[in-house]
This record gives sequence, structure tokens and C-alpha cells, in this order.
Amino acid sequence: MTSSDTPRRALPVLDLVAPSGPPRDAVSSDDPRLNEYRPDTQALPAFHLWTLGCQMNQSDSEEMAGRLLAAGCSEAASLEAADLVVINTCAIREGAEQKVIGRQGHLARLKAANPGLRVVLTGCSVREAERDGLARRYPAVDLFLRPDEEPELVERLGLASAQGPIGAGSGLATGPVGATTMLGRRVVGAADNLAGTRAAAVDGGLLARTSAISAWLPIIYGCDKTCTYCIVPFSRGPERSRPFDEIVEEARGLAAAGYREVTLLGQNVNSYGHDLAPEARFGHITTERWAGRRIDQGSRPDLAELIRAIDGLRTGDGVPAIPRLRFVTSHPWDLSDRLIDAMADSPSVCEHLHLPVQSGDDEVLRRMGRQYGIQHYMERLQRIRRRVPGIAISTDIIVGFCGETREQFDSTLRLLEAARYDQVFAAAYSPRPGTPATHLADDVPPGEKRARLNELLALQEGIGLERNREWLGREVSVLVERIVPARSHEHATADDDAEIPVTGAAAGGDGAADQAAAGEGRGVNPGPGQVRLTGRTRQHKLVHLAGAPDLVGQFLTVRVQRAGAYALRGTLAQP
Ligand code: SAH
Ligand code: SF4
Ligand code: F3S
Repeated sequence: MTSSDTPRRALPVLDLVAPSGPPRDAVSSDDPRLNEYRPDTQALPAFHLWTLGCQMNQSDSEEMAGRLLAAGCSEAASLEAADLVVINTCAIREGAEQKVIGRQGHLARLKAANPGLRVVLTGCSVREAERDGLARRYPAVDLFLRPDEEPELVERLGLASAQGPIGAGSGLATGPVGATTMLGRRVVGAADNLAGTRAAAVDGGLLARTSAISAWLPIIYGCDKTCTYCIVPFSRGPERSRPFDEIVEEARGLAAAGYREVTLLGQNVNSYGHDLAPEARFGHITTERWAGRRIDQGSRPDLAELIRAIDGLRTGDGVPAIPRLRFVTSHPWDLSDRLIDAMADSPSVCEHLHLPVQSGDDEVLRRMGRQYGIQHYMERLQRIRRRVPGIAISTDIIVGFCGETREQFDSTLRLLEAARYDQVFAAAYSPRPGTPATHLADDVPPGEKRARLNELLALQEGIGLERNREWLGREVSVLVERIVPARSHEHATADDDAEIPVTGAAAGGDGAADQAAAGEGRGVNPGPGQVRLTGRTRQHKLVHLAGAPDLVGQFLTVRVQRAGAYALRGTLAQP
């Protein structure tokens, strides 16, 4: 090897003395050759985000990841390889919280091995009213952030100023932020401005979206409803809608970036807008809540107006710029005729509605505080099926709620037979501390809850299979979402093949339906150059098929050849 082949370290040229001979370029302050002359800086942490729960948590995590990446942090491949673990929790049932509580020992061991490791816990398990007990339940956690404090993550970790340390002595606070005050059970404070921080995150590029095909788009935060079993209003606070134009702008940006599908998110997406200021341009909108507490929606934007505006974003050829528009979750209170009409009129709005019913018995619904009866619910279902032919309907059910008799449970089974849902996310009632239902006796024994759950799932399996069989032999449009890794396909575990449930009922990872759906992909036999693919129809049916890997993100016409209770299988139709 000659000396000229030896890589030589390039020393920075400091032009202190006027050079003799030909002029040389001045060295700019960001010249990498100067790096070794700069003072030592502490490395920024590699972070791992562990996200549980529903789509709102998935969306929030995209924002947290974006903020951490923008601050200069890198993403660690696993929890074990991280210097910063951020856990985005779900509190919907005890089981979801236990998953995180059960990992405290593991996290403590990781911290013992890596004293620089910091653990942040956020999401629905962090409630101001119960902050005192958090450190006891989650001993490995250094910092607790409520969902509305998540935009402060980077600042609270001292990462906002370039290369700030997160190591010991960085002053990680475990108490509440100064700006937080309580008004009754409600948290009010400077941090409670999610609707505003979202737009800033979008504008500032502080959003690490996990898919380049389908995007989450939060439109309303929190929940004002009165469901006695539910922790969400306590975790997420009151309903706050994002300004109409900001949402349409975010959708326009997604269309320009080539997103094929957008899902509008909210705990009650169809309550959108009631808390916004009235405006003359929305003067044609009048109050139209059919059930539940009356609110004045006059001259305020609603979900119907919003989906018409997003559907109205068109390409040069006049087709919707976002081909598929979805929204979750809708409350039966606010499924207005205006919304049903907007769904029927908007070609981009997918023929699928998730409409949680919770129980088939009016007395149980009353105790649950749902504020509608089965008659109202079935009337809404009938109307939407009439206006949007072929629409797929899914729901959430809670079995074994306080005082549920065998007869009342039977009413839920009869409802399933009458409604003929495409998909049901069911769970046993789990008392949540601080919710009104804890004043009622949780008197259905655990074994009986399990038995009712199994009975209900078995009944629905048959109904789901019948509904899916209606698709046999038909050609459907499938948006291909991903390649199924071979290993997960063979063993079909919930984690490997997890699809995000339509809503939170299965959130927290009950996963039984997911596993079954994954299993139905087993009959797919990829040919040379092909892989196993999964995608969804407009009706949100999961479809397994074989095809080239570059089909991900594309719309395909697929002929349905097999139907299971949870998924379809098909082959590419010849063009
Ligand atoms: N806002 C949505 C969904 C919120 S939570 C709605 O109102 O439909 C998602 C689902 O979790 C609920 O629909 C309900 O079926 C289930 N759930 C909520 N609290 C629960 C509890 N304490 N025990 C069991 N399931 C619960
Ligand atoms: Fe709100 Fe839904 Fe919970 Fe009811 S079940 S309180 S509507 S989040
Ligand atoms: Fe929260 Fe969603 Fe779970 S709102 S409690 S993460 S289902």
C-alpha cells in the first residue's frame, strides 16, 4: 500500500495567518473537520416508545416520536437497547394497566444495568387526581405526563436546548407541572392546549407518521359523555375540537404527500365542533341531537361539514384527493341525519361505521349512562343501512356489567342476531377506580363474565362468518397495507400480526380476533417473487393475498375466494 492510499486524517485549516500563495477557502463554523476541537457533548438518548391502547394513543405516539427525533434523538430498536423508554399507557381495563405494571421489574433491572436509562410514563394511566399513587404503582418510572402534557415531553426531559443531558441530576420532575390546576375533577392549565399544539407539530414537521399510506388525523380530544364504567373522561378531560380549517389543512397536506387513507380520530368523533365558536359560514347547521344531553350546535361546524370539506379536496380529474376517508369512534347520541347524508354523498367516505352499542338491554344501558335505548340505536342503524347500501357495521360490547342478569345478557345476544354486525369487539366489565360505576356492585362473578363473553363471541363468530361469506366470488378494491413477515404468519401471534382494532374495546390487546384473523392468512401461497400481503376493503374487511412486495400502498382489485369469520382471502383479479 502506498502512502497516498492510506486514509489521512484531514486537519482543520485555521486561516489565522494570511496565507501566502493561492487563496484557500475559509472554514465555515459547521465544517465537520472542526468537530474534534469542539467541547465534549453528551450523546442524545436513543428512545423506545411502547404504545398500548387505541388509535388516539397511536397518533399521540407519532407526535412524541416526531418531537424526540426533531430534538436529535435516535430511535432504539428495542426497549432493551434504549436510554429513554416512553410508555404510552391505556387504562380502559385493569388488564391493560397490568401489562405495564407487570414490566416494572424488568425496567428496574434494565435501569440497574444502565444507570442513564430514563423511563417516562404517559397516556391514560396518568390522571391528575391519582398522581400521588403513580410512583407506588410504577416504581421504575422517572417522569409522569398526562396525555395533554405530552407535547412538553422534550422540554420536560431537558432535551429542548441542543444536546442537553438526560442523565442523573437533570432534575427530572415527578410532581405536577406548575401550570396545572384542578377544577373539581377537571384539569385546567397551560398544558391543556392539545388542539393548538397539534397544528404547530404539523407545521413544524414534528410528526413521525408510522405509515406512508394511512394517516391518523385527530379532530377532537377528550370526552364529555356520561358512561359510568369508563375512565376516558377522567384521563382525557373534556371535549376539545380542533379548528375546522386546521383539520382541512392537515388533510390537504396528507393528500399532497400521497396518503391513500385518512382516519379522523376522536373518542367521540361525531361530537366534533359543539365547543367551537359559532360562525356565519356555518349558519345552515342547526341543533340536531336526538338523544342524550341537549347541546347547542347551531352555526358551529360538525363532522358532516368536515367530511364534506375533506371529501371536497379533489385532484385535477375531480376525484377525491384522499381516496379513503374513515372516522372513529362514533357515539349513537350524535349519529345525525346530516352525518348519514354526508356519508352517503361523499365518495371518499368508506362504507364502514363503528357504532358501539355496549349492551342490548335498555336497563343496563341506563345504568351504563349511555343515554339512548335500543330502539333509538336500531332506528339509526336502519337509516344508515338504507342510505349507504352495503355498509359494514362494527360495535363494542361490555358483558357482565354491574347487575347484568342472564335475561339482560340474552337481550344482548338477541341484539347481535338482529343487528348482524360485521365485527364485534367485546370485553368483560372491568371496574375502573374513580368512575361512577364503582358505586354499583360488581356482582357478576368473574367465571360468569368469562362464560358470557365466550358465548357472545361464539355467536358472533357465526354471524361474522355469514357476513363475510356474502363476499365470496366478488371483486373488491383492496388497499394493500403491509407484507406479512413469514415467521409471524406461521405462528400468527397477536403481537406479530397485530392489526389495530377499530376502536378501543380490543385496545389493550385482548387480541383474540386478531390472532384468528392472522390465522386465516395461512392458506395464502406466494409464488416466485411474491410475498404474503394484507390489506383492507372499503368495508374495513381484512384481506390476505399473495403478490409482489411493491404492491404495498396500492389499490388492487381482488377476487374473494375464501371467507373466515375475521378475514377474507383472495387473488389478484386480472386487469
Ligand atoms: N368512545 C368510544 C370508545 C371508548 S373506549 C365509545 O364510546 O364507544 C372503547 C371501548 O372500551 C368501549 O366502547 C367499551 O366497550 C370498552 N370499555 C370501556 N370501559 C370499559 C370497562 N370499564 N370495562 C370493560 N370495557 C370497557
Ligand atoms: Fe366517552 Fe366512549 Fe368512554 Fe363513553 S365509552 S365515556 S363515550 S370514551
Ligand atoms: Fe385511553 Fe384509548 Fe385506552 S383513550 S384508556 S388509550 S382505549
